[in-house]
Amino acid sequence: MLRHHIHPGLELRLLQLTDAPRLFALVDANRKSLRTWLPWVDATTKLSHSQKFIAEALRDREKTRAYAAGIWSSGELVGVIWHNRIDWANRVAFPAYWLVPSAEGRGIMRAACQVVIEHAFNQLKVDRVIVAVATENHRAAALVRRLGFAQISTLKKAEWLYDHFVDHSIYQRINPTASSLP
Ligand SMILES: CC(C)(COP(=O)(O)OP(=O)(O)OC[C@H]1O[C@@H](n2cnc3c(N)ncnc32)[C@H](O)[C@@H]1OP(=O)(O)O)[C@@H](O)C(=O)NCCC(=O)NCCS
Repeated sequence: MLRHHIHPGLELRLLQLTDAPRLFALVDANRKSLRTWLPWVDATTKLSHSQKFIAEALRDREKTRAYAAGIWSSGELVGVIWHNRIDWANRVAFPAYWLVPSAEGRGIMRAACQVVIEHAFNQLKVDRVIVAVATENHRAAALVRRLGFAQISTLKKAEWLYDHFVDHSIYQRINPTASSLP
């Protein structure tokens, strides 16, 4: 997916290295709120870290078709949605995403996730999409439930967030056209 218009004023665009300064500035300006649930924020201290994220995403896209897209609202970068990985042996995609607080509460991520999930089902033709949500991250849990995901398990102490572990709820949505799954 290179570019996808969701509606006037909202689009997804594959992140390019030229976006790194904007991406780093966005993380830098919102690090206090982003670090609540995202484990990589404190390690993102300079432009080269955002460049590395984008460069690795572009490389992954070549190798596995996993991609990272910027979420642009009214011409401003407001977040990112990407595939942590695509497990082709088992046909599962593992997307992840974040928005800055000023862009929350408008349905932006719901629309972005819908595009990425439909692309995963219809273009990539994966059988399942799986998302891990920290059990106390109620906003993220509300989003996946609204998107039709079902909780399939819980992982205790799944992720170290700077100074404490969080448990994860694992949510899954199955491709309705997948033939090999119940
Ligand atoms: C998780 C996260 C993406 C959710 O963002 P969000 O803006 O709440 O997500 P949505 O796009 O579903 O928006 C829902 C809100 O928009 C409102 N909304 C307004 N217009 C809407 C529309 N047209 N369609 C849907 N919702 C709309 C909903 O009523 C809801 O409002 P509420 O929060 O007051 O209940 C965001 O909080 C975030 O980035 N958090 C930090 C990182 C993170 O946790 N990432 C996920 C890890 S699993």
